[in-house]
Amino acid sequence: MKKLLIKNIKELIQVEDVPRNRVLGLDMKNLATLKNAWLAIEDNIIVAFGSMDEMPGITDWTNLEVVDAEGKMVFPSWCDSHTHIVFAGTRETEFVDRINGLSYEEIAARGGGILNSAEKLADTSEDDLVKSAMIRLNEIILMGTGAVEIKSGYGLSIDAELKILRVIKKLKQLSPLTIKANFLGAHAIPKAFKENRTGYIDQIINEMLPVIEKEGLAEYIDTFCETNYFTPEETDRILTAGAKHGLKPKIHVNQFTAIGGIQVGVKHKAISVDHLEVMRDEDIETLKKSNTIPTLLPSCSFFLSIPFGPAKDLMAANLPVALATDYNPGSTPSGNMNFVISLACIKMKMTPEQAINAATINGAAAMELSNTHGSIAIGKTANLFITKQISGYSFIPYSFGANHIDTVILNGKVQS
Ligand code: NIG
Ligand code: FE
Repeated sequence: MKKLLIKNIKELIQVEDVPRNRVLGLDMKNLATLKNAWLAIEDNIIVAFGSMDEMPGITDWTNLEVVDAEGKMVFPSWCDSHTHIVFAGTRETEFVDRINGLSYEEIAARGGGILNSAEKLADTSEDDLVKSAMIRLNEIILMGTGAVEIKSGYGLSIDAELKILRVIKKLKQLSPLTIKANFLGAHAIPKAFKENRTGYIDQIINEMLPVIEKEGLAEYIDTFCETNYFTPEETDRILTAGAKHGLKPKIHVNQFTAIGGIQVGVKHKAISVDHLEVMRDEDIETLKKSNTIPTLLPSCSFFLSIPFGPAKDLMAANLPVALATDYNPGSTPSGNMNFVISLACIKMKMTPEQAINAATINGAAAMELSNTHGSIAIGKTANLFITKQISGYSFIPYSFGANHIDTVILNGKVQS
């Protein structure tokens, strides 16, 4: 058995004696920490932690590695519950088009956006997609992420959607990250089905879903429920079919317009509804009667210059807000959870405690991983990071844009 002891930790963040599934909005202002602490890992599991004043003597030094974290903090790894990390090619020409005045919707209407990414992906091999996605995954590991949800959605044909999901399955084997797969065949209507949207939805339901179930390619199902993409009625139909194949919904809603996507998500007991830049009072009321997690993506708002989600209103309604990156080539070409936390504090007025809760335990809950991830608790997977020497946990969101992470540990192993 391999043993790792981290000692002299200046502050151990998000400690739990009794592990919780999620933190509700009104409680998100509280963040439990332990100052001057130690933490012990055996193989891939957190087995003990406590105060340096009461550190037990070590009797068995065999296979014991000791890390001295003097002046440094230890956090549970970030849980990024919404990404589109498998894609082919970037879209900086659209970025420049937006600088020159076009909107995201205008670019999409002339065949750019998601359709542009689908065209690029169609000709890219599974191997090349694995390679480029692994580079992105390694990049987010070094930025502190320990669990990630990855969507398909840049395929938009039977072959290409299945290709992406098979890539994600490979990534699960290759990467030390904990990965959940989300099938987003309903990301946009492909060009070939412009005049026959029902035909494409039929393909999703009749041709893609059965293979996905047979090969065990996804845990979740997503739709982009939005004006010019998929209607609430179409979303309802797709989620109903997904449930028959064992897929739970985590869906895109209320990014540009509020058209009832939250209501459909809640009707289908969605694990999360994500984006929420445009919210009506009735949407918050609907969420209050559900277990669905509202997930906000502030780096998408930042990049597209669209409104930031109403984090304070959602928390005031006692909802368990989660934060995620939305890493994708169109609306958020960044997987940096540290920057997400900075934006949540600076632009959404979440406190550092609220933002850290949203990016750890609530992000884990939005991937149904809170039994194993999202906090420092005995028995949980040893996914954590050690910071550089910093003054306190608020320094992470405050000192935005810099990397304050020194060492990353995933499944009990130091990453490099
Ligand atoms: O979550 N909104 C839908 N999908 C992605 C963006 C897709 C793209 O522009 O490529 C998102 O922002
Ligand atoms: Fe997204």
